[in-house]
Amino acid sequence: MKASLSRCPSEHRANLLETPKFQATSRWILLAALLGSGAGCHDMEHSRQIDNPAVAGRTIALQICSNCHSVDGVSVSPMFPTLAGQRKEYLVNQLSDFRAHLRSDPNAKRFMWGFTHLSDEQIEQLAMYFASRPPPAGLPGDRLLVDDGRTIFISGIPDKGVPACSSCHGTGGEGMGEFPRLAGQHADYIVKQLLVFRQAGQRPRGESMKAISDNMSEQEMRSVAAFLEASSSQAGVPVDLGTADPGSVRR
Ligand code: HEC
Ligand code: HEC
Repeated sequence: MKASLSRCPSEHRANLLETPKFQATSRWILLAALLGSGAGCHDMEHSRQIDNPAVAGRTIALQICSNCHSVDGVSVSPMFPTLAGQRKEYLVNQLSDFRAHLRSDPNAKRFMWGFTHLSDEQIEQLAMYFASRPPPAGLPGDRLLVDDGRTIFISGIPDKGVPACSSCHGTGGEGMGEFPRLAGQHADYIVKQLLVFRQAGQRPRGESMKAISDNMSEQEMRSVAAFLEASSSQAGVPVDLGTADPGSVRR
């Protein structure tokens, strides 16, 4: 199996993603090299040619996306959002916005703007792959923060005109359609995105969120984020027979 993997010239470059050097400085340059590499590799199962529309979304997910978002979509570092159990429509929207360079905060530019060659079909398949991974169990957080956050999530902050998050994101934070799942997401990522929404235009579909985050203090953001990181909800995860059981896949 190793021998067949190493036939693909881009395999070696992809491994660079895991080296400390990559993590320290030149992520973008290496990623660009990775994305542009692989000419002449015809082994589609193992191909890293994401600019080739014949490569299945699942293969891209396992070989490229997993370097940052993990094979099961539950990322380790809070810099990389957890994608497991995320709503399919939301994932399609975000991948389309990265591809069109419309979602434009610095980390989106740095890490996600390279994926301009994905076809609509690959985006659909990638979204289905991650939407159908089981979302993570919640991580226990600071009790006071979590309790304050629960109140904000369920009731909003009426004095400040902040609506209940649950009214759009679902009673368990499971999301629906274009409203993302928030339950189980990294707290630091949630706070970061709430701050991004304040910057008009960095997330083109975030208009309703801008009004909300403008009216929240950073302390309130941290509370609601701690509550969400501690939450787990398995509701609404689709079954995708085509991409079930990532553990059995040859990597
Ligand atoms: C080099 C690391 C890296 C790789 C490889 C990568 N991502 Fe990302 N991804 C990120 C980072 C960092 C963010 C957060 C960007 C931000 O802060 O706005 C992100 C954000 C996302 C989001 C938005 C999630 C949300 O909750 O809004 C989606 C969807 C996504 N990535 C899917 C993918 C897919 C699919 C692939 C493979 C084609 C992939 N990513 C490959 C680093 C990466
Ligand atoms: C009126 C509906 C609505 C309400 C109420 C609402 N949201 Fe959202 N939220 C959205 C939509 C729509 C998006 C997706 C925006 C996009 O696609 O860029 C979103 C996205 C987010 C994201 C980004 C998730 C990610 O993975 O990048 C966070 C974090 C978030 N909301 C937190 C909250 C919190 C906390 C509250 C309550 C204080 C809240 N939202 C209330 C509609 C709402």
